[in-house]
Amino acid sequence: MQILGTGSYAPERILTNHDLEKMVATSDSWIRERTGIRERRIAADGELTSDMAVAAALKALEMADTDPADLDIIIVATISPDMPMPSCAMIVQAKLGATKAFAFDLSAACAGSLYGMTIAEQFIRSGSAKRILVIGAELLSRLVDWTDRNTSVLFGDAAGALVLGPSASPDRGLLSAHLHSDGTMAPVLCIRGGGSQFPQSESVLQSGMHKIAMNGREVYKFAVRVLPEALAEALSANGVTAADIDHVVSHQANVRIMESVLGRVGIPMERCWINLDRYGNTSSASLPISLDEANRAGRLKPGDLIAMMAIGAGMTWGSALMRW
Ligand code: ACO
Repeated sequence: MQILGTGSYAPERILTNHDLEKMVATSDSWIRERTGIRERRIAADGELTSDMAVAAALKALEMADTDPADLDIIIVATISPDMPMPSCAMIVQAKLGATKAFAFDLSAACAGSLYGMTIAEQFIRSGSAKRILVIGAELLSRLVDWTDRNTSVLFGDAAGALVLGPSASPDRGLLSAHLHSDGTMAPVLCIRGGGSQFPQSESVLQSGMHKIAMNGREVYKFAVRVLPEALAEALSANGVTAADIDHVVSHQANVRIMESVLGRVGIPMERCWINLDRYGNTSSASLPISLDEANRAGRLKPGDLIAMMAIGAGMTWGSALMRW
């Protein structure tokens, strides 16, 4: 399986760290030093997750020279769909006019696009699909408690999309993917209200259980432990070393996580595409956005070896190796 097209979209409105200083007890220097984030994008009133998904998808489809009507499958990785039912992917399918495609959402938080890409690969390798659209789209600004400085400074709204198809040659495209989950970590990063356990109610709203709650230190410790293992797994499965990796395309949660992980594996930070400073953590959107930006900047040359990694609520995480 190969990436035939990449696309991304971020809303126009920029919320800087200085803007946040006026909203919660924080500072630009604290946010920059602890996370690497300078600003993030916020969706316009009335703008929906599916709108951002479609905007990113249209760019990826154009690059892939693919008509939406030719898509076989649409996978939307999101934890912030337009509504609980039907899936965001159904709304995207309708907006694109992708009438042939079957469509579904995938809930794996920040690792969602990596999960989606890996699932897509199975359909393409088996020959049952020729064109698959994988989108990561998140409108987290509507799930964030804007009075909570622990979470409100971290997240942003955006979407990224990939059009996937069979590889032109067997030594190009996705070489391996290793996905992992640990559900015992669910309480460290979750939205507890609004599901079957705590259905929407006045008390759920009043207690703020419909907003993102996080133990950042536990997430951090977990990420810097498991991501080096996941990258090592990718290297060993392909018989390559850290020195063979030309680029790292990573989920962007915190620049210190990326520095720690790549430091442990022995890959210089210069090989990692960074856009966290401009977008914050956009969850499932961050990996495809990073791929799109690196691709459109001409950084990815045919034959380059790209290592991907992502980690998110669940915890969900994994790595992949791709020959561009
Ligand atoms: N501004 C100022 N001070 C703050 C802020 C803020 N925005 N947020 C927290 N603090 C304070 C805390 O209250 C604490 O104060 P205290 O010592 O008086 O109690 C102090 O700063 C230190 O807090 P820590 O949580 O220990 O700070 P840490 O250095 O761990 O950084 C952070 C916090 C940035 C959240 C870090 O733990 C992190 O990045 N964790 C990963 C979380 C993450 O990325 N989640 C995203 C979703 S999952 C994913 O994408 C992988």
